[in-house]
Amino acid sequence: MHLIAPSILSANFLNLEKDIDMINDSEADWFHIDVMDGRFVPNITFGMPVIAAMKKRARKPFDVHLMIVEPEKYIADFANAGADMLTVHYEASTHLHRNLQLIKSHGMKAGVALNPHTPVSLLSDIINDIDLVCIMSVNPGFGGQKFIEQTMQKVRQLAHMIDEHGAHTQIEIDGGVTMENAHALIKNGANVLVAGNTVFSSPDPVHTIQRLKQVV
Ligand code: DX5
Ligand code: ZN
Repeated sequence: MHLIAPSILSANFLNLEKDIDMINDSEADWFHIDVMDGRFVPNITFGMPVIAAMKKRARKPFDVHLMIVEPEKYIADFANAGADMLTVHYEASTHLHRNLQLIKSHGMKAGVALNPHTPVSLLSDIINDIDLVCIMSVNPGFGGQKFIEQTMQKVRQLAHMIDEHGAHTQIEIDGGVTMENAHALIKNGANVLVAGNTVFSSPDPVHTIQRLKQVV
């Protein structure tokens, strides 16, 4: 069964408590939390204090997506703030394997995110060390962008690689996920769908999460 991870980036920052409760009471599986530094991506969001505050209210795992340079500097801080899964970008990690070990040493699941131009084949030598691959289906930085169709092929390639290596890596899709493309993504091998705009701009977010969850 695939998982749904609503993206807090599209929540109402003036009333995060309400949106956290909405996700708590929905069929969502994880909270997807986007941290941006204005250097790796052309946008700035929030950091450890906001995540630690949300953690007091949230009752589901925190999937924290770091869109920052030098992520290794902050791995311990995000563990302390309450991250259960920590994803670093391939493009921001000179020593990716070391970063993954560091994340795991702090008791978190370790993820790698790939920008749209980064081929999945670059992960073949370390796929057994990765708990989660986050395939970016938009250029990271903003919610509400259009899905890049080439992602479908990347999902298939990655699913094949995971299978070949007998790995247990989860495939997460981040960006432009809609009711329309969810079915094909799951069919091609996606295990986790991140959804920001699709959930939060809908009239009934709980119902939208339920519909995403029921996609077969
Ligand atoms: C984009 C973020 C995404 C974003 C997805 O850089 O990583 O998590 O919130 O938003 P939607 O689902 O609106 O494309
Ligand atoms: Zn994200």
